[in-house]
Amino acid sequence: MSPNSDNLLRISFIHETLIAMSVSINASENGMSPWDSQHLEQDYEVGEIEGTIPDDLRGVLYRIGPGRLDIDGHPMGHIFDGDGMVSRFEIGPSGVRYRNRYVRTRAFRRTNETGKWPRGFATQRLGGPLANAMRFPENMANTNVLVHDDALYALWEGGKPHRLDPLTLDTEGTESFGGALKRLGAFSAHPKADPATGEVFNFGVDFFPRPMIRCYRLDRGGRLHGIATVPITKLGFVHDFALTDRHLVFILGPLVVRKPVSVALGLRPFDEALSYRPELGTTIVLVPRGGGPGTRMETDALFHFHVTNAYEHGANTVVDIVAHNADGGWMQWENHLRRFRDNPGPAFGGTLTRLTIDPAAGKVTHEQLNDRGCEFPQLDPRRITREHRFSYLAEASRSGGDPDSIATVDHRTGNTSRYTVPDGNTICEPLFAPRTTPGNEGDGWLLTLEHEPLHRRSRLTILRADRPDDGPIATAPLEHHVPMTFHGTYVPAT
Ligand SMILES: [Fe+2]
Repeated sequence: MSPNSDNLLRISFIHETLIAMSVSINASENGMSPWDSQHLEQDYEVGEIEGTIPDDLRGVLYRIGPGRLDIDGHPMGHIFDGDGMVSRFEIGPSGVRYRNRYVRTRAFRRTNETGKWPRGFATQRLGGPLANAMRFPENMANTNVLVHDDALYALWEGGKPHRLDPLTLDTEGTESFGGALKRLGAFSAHPKADPATGEVFNFGVDFFPRPMIRCYRLDRGGRLHGIATVPITKLGFVHDFALTDRHLVFILGPLVVRKPVSVALGLRPFDEALSYRPELGTTIVLVPRGGGPGTRMETDALFHFHVTNAYEHGANTVVDIVAHNADGGWMQWENHLRRFRDNPGPAFGGTLTRLTIDPAAGKVTHEQLNDRGCEFPQLDPRRITREHRFSYLAEASRSGGDPDSIATVDHRTGNTSRYTVPDGNTICEPLFAPRTTPGNEGDGWLLTLEHEPLHRRSRLTILRADRPDDGPIATAPLEHHVPMTFHGTYVPAT
């Protein structure tokens, strides 16, 4: 690092500390939101563990989300537009060590230097259309993390991953995997690791010269291989996909681009280019893992972001997703994400839905698996590509509210076990952590972050995966809050 960049970081630290003070004053006056920024970077042992961390829970939890959602007091316009901040929780014999760092993206560094925010998904730069024309949203590296081949990557679906030191969280730069990621180099934020082979599969969407999905395989040694390309006939939003032992599965819903010109000219933000058109239905594409042409079929319109898992069942392919109701249209739904601070709306109100795809008959059946609003579905990652018994969910018990419960759904018995946080707290995605000794599916814990506004902090909450309704078996209260995180990963100690 050059002396000049050292000075810039010092200046930015002072600048951010001042912002943090102003945010703190605002929070004390107005109450603390899980979406308040956290401008400080810290590194410390958590002082007091409440309860007992099990001896066979050892590893590192990474969480990532938009940590900085205001610049000089100016609020960013959307849940997706905050700078990516990684939190690292090392769970060891002496307790929990916490560290957080912002990903040093180009946008983060420029904002620190200039005090001006970048163009985002729904946030426009200052300066009107001229300042926004022909600019793609900046890579905020805020959506998910991947640990593979001893490397940690911060992911954002429209661009390249940022490679970080897995211990210090220092940013080492963007990653092209030896040049294998070309053009805009999109490497999406929901890669799937096959526990049987150690490979990671992912995709990226290319917009030019014609819309397509590029499918990738990251081998055990960290080399990226192209598998196939999938033309997209109705260009739209593709956030997640599914992996079986035979296929990559894409569920292409009718959230499609309708007004690209006004967006390209900088007249409107990117999110306004999208339109939900249920009459177009949903296209499902099964892409063979070894490459070759995919199998396409049509089904009723589905509006979803996330996939739990997928597996082959005889000649059929089964995919579990969280499906949402978009009857009011995209912008009505989207306006809640713009107003994330005070009105999250239906964002956490999806239903777990099982799709059974019969390629021979060209038929897809839909089955609803739960009846309570949820999002951020997870499973024991040892079951990825195979039939899973348990799904783990973040739920909102109040329609239109923030998530306040963690649920384990047992698909064999139909039972659900649920932990609901104390009044006023909120919670995020539960990640499964297996015992360090080998066990069966579900033998382990759920790790999540719980926001406690009364205490002006967040805590790491540890639940039994099979009985979250027992409540936390241990919590690690931090000295501060962590803004709502989107996703993460857990790496068991070896
Ligand atoms: Fe996601």
